[in-house]
Amino acid sequence: MVLLTLAALLGTHLFGGVSAQTWCNKNYMANQSIVPPGGNFPIPTYSHSPLLALRCGPAIKPYLAEDVHSPAAILIDALVVNYEITGAAPISLPSRGLSQAGSIDVTVSLDGKTLARGDVPLNTTAFELPFSLEGLTPQMTPYNLTCSATYSGTSDAKSQSFSTTASLSYIPNPTNSSVTKMDLRTGALLAKPATGLGGEYAPVFPMGFYTTFDGYLSTNLSIVNELKEQGFTVIHPVPTFDNMTAFEEVLDRMQEVGMYLMYDMRFTYMNLTSVTEQVNSIKNRPNLLLWYTADEPDGTSDPLNATSNAYDLIYSLDGYHPVSLVLNCQVCR
Ligand SMILES: *[C@@H]1O[C@H](CO)[C@@H](O)[C@H](O)[C@H]1NC(C)=O
Ligand SMILES: *[C@@H]1O[C@H](CO)[C@@H](O)[C@H](O)[C@H]1NC(C)=O
Ligand SMILES: *[C@@H]1O[C@H](CO)[C@@H](O)[C@H](O)[C@H]1NC(C)=O
Ligand SMILES: *[C@@H]1O[C@H](CO)[C@@H](O)[C@H](O)[C@H]1NC(C)=O
Ligand SMILES: *[C@@H]1O[C@H](CO)[C@@H](O)[C@H](O)[C@H]1NC(C)=O
Ligand SMILES: *[C@@H]1O[C@H](CO)[C@@H](O)[C@H](O)[C@H]1NC(C)=O
Ligand SMILES: *[C@@H]1O[C@H](CO)[C@@H](O)[C@H](O)[C@H]1NC(C)=O
Ligand SMILES: *[C@@H]1O[C@H](CO)[C@@H](O)[C@H](O)[C@H]1NC(C)=O
Repeated sequence: MVLLTLAALLGTHLFGGVSAQTWCNKNYMANQSIVPPGGNFPIPTYSHSPLLALRCGPAIKPYLAEDVHSPAAILIDALVVNYEITGAAPISLPSRGLSQAGSIDVTVSLDGKTLARGDVPLNTTAFELPFSLEGLTPQMTPYNLTCSATYSGTSDAKSQSFSTTASLSYIPNPTNSSVTKMDLRTGALLAKPATGLGGEYAPVFPMGFYTTFDGYLSTNLSIVNELKEQGFTVIHPVPTFDNMTAFEEVLDRMQEVGMYLMYDMRFTYMNLTSVTEQVNSIKNRPNLLLWYTADEPDGTSDPLNATSNAYDLIYSLDGYHPVSLVLNCQVCR
C-alpha cells in the first residue's frame, strides 16, 4: 500500500508523436509477448544538422488579478538539438561552434502587441523575459501568446525566423477557493497553508503516499493526525470512497491539521458526468492542492484523448488547481 506518489503535471499535449490507439504497448505480465515499441515512447528521428526547439510559457501558472503589480515573466527555451522533437526547426549556425553562436532576438506578443522582448542565448532554457500584467484584463480563458525569434548570427547576414505559441493564464482572484500556482522556473507548487486560515503562498513539497480510503482512512480519523506527525504534507486517498460521511470527516480533519489533499479520480476520470460532480463538490476545499486523473493510462491503454478531455473539463470547472496524472511508459526526450 505504501507507494510513492510521483505526479507528472500534465501540460498540454505531451504525446503528439504517438498515433496508435495504444500509447506504448506496455505489458503488465511477464508472459505477454513484446509488441513494439515495447513500453517506451518512440525515440524522435535523429537529424544530422542542428535544430532549434523554440518554446515559451509563463513563469507562473496561473497569475491572479491581485498579482497585477508583481513582477511577471515569460520563460524562453532556445534548445539546440539533433532530434526532431516537437516544434524543432533547422537552424544554420556559424562554424565556430555553439559557444560563440550568440543569441536569438525574441519578441513575445499578445493580440499583435509586444508583451516582452529580449536577447536569449542559444541553447539556454527557462531564460526569463520580464513583462507587466498591467493593462491585461483577468479572465478565465487563457490568453494566446506568440513568441517569435530571429537569428542573425551567421556571416551571410541572412536572418532566420522561428515562431511558437503558448498560453497565459491571468485569472480573476478566487471568491471561495484556494489556489495552487505552478512555478515553472523551479517546478515547485505554491500554495497558502492547508488550514485555510490564511498566510502567504509558499512552496509545497508534496510528500505523501497512495493511501487506501475504504477500510483504512475511513475507519479511524487519528490516522490523519499520525501522518501529519510523521512529517507527510499531502494525503492522496485512493478511491473508492464508499462512505461519503466518513470521507467529508477525513477531509475536515486534514484541513484542521494542515494536510493538503490530492484528489484522485482514477476509476471515474473518463466519465465526464462523474468528474463534473466530483470537481464541483471538492473545488472549494481550502486544502485542495491538485487533481489527479489517470493512473497509468498509457499502460492500460485508455483512449489517447481521455486524459486531455478530463484535463480540459477540470480546467473549465475549476481553473485554480493543477491537474496531475501518473504515467507508466518510459519517456525519452
Ligand atoms: C500470464 O500470467 C498470468 C499470471 O500468472 C496468468 O493469469 C495468465 O493466464 C497468463 N496468460 C497467458 C496467456 O499465459
Ligand atoms: C545544448 O545544451 C545541452 C545541455 O543543456 C547539451 O547537452 C547539448 O549538447 C547542447 N547542444 C549543443 C548543440 O551543443
Ligand atoms: C486562444 O486560442 C484558442 C484556440 O484557437 C481559442 O479557442 C481561444 O478563444 C483563444 N483565446 C483567446 C483569449 O482569444
Ligand atoms: C487509530 O489510529 C491511531 C493512529 O494510527 C492508533 O494509534 C489507534 O490505535 C487507532 N485506533 C483504533 C481503534 O484502531
Ligand atoms: C459512515 O461513516 C460515518 C462516520 O464515520 C459512520 O458514523 C457511519 O456508521 C458509516 N456508515 C456506514 C454504512 O459504515
Ligand atoms: C457516470 O457517472 C454518473 C454520475 O456519477 C453515473 O450516474 C453514471 O452511471 C456513470 N456512468 C457510467 C457508465 O459508469
Ligand atoms: C465556499 O466553500 C465552502 C467549502 O469550503 C462551501 O461549503 C460553501 O458552500 C462555499 N460557498 C459558496 C458561496 O460557494
Ligand atoms: C476523443 O474524445 C471524444 C469525447 O469527447 C470522443 O467523442 C472522440 O471520439 C475521441 N476521439 C478520438 C480520436 O479518439
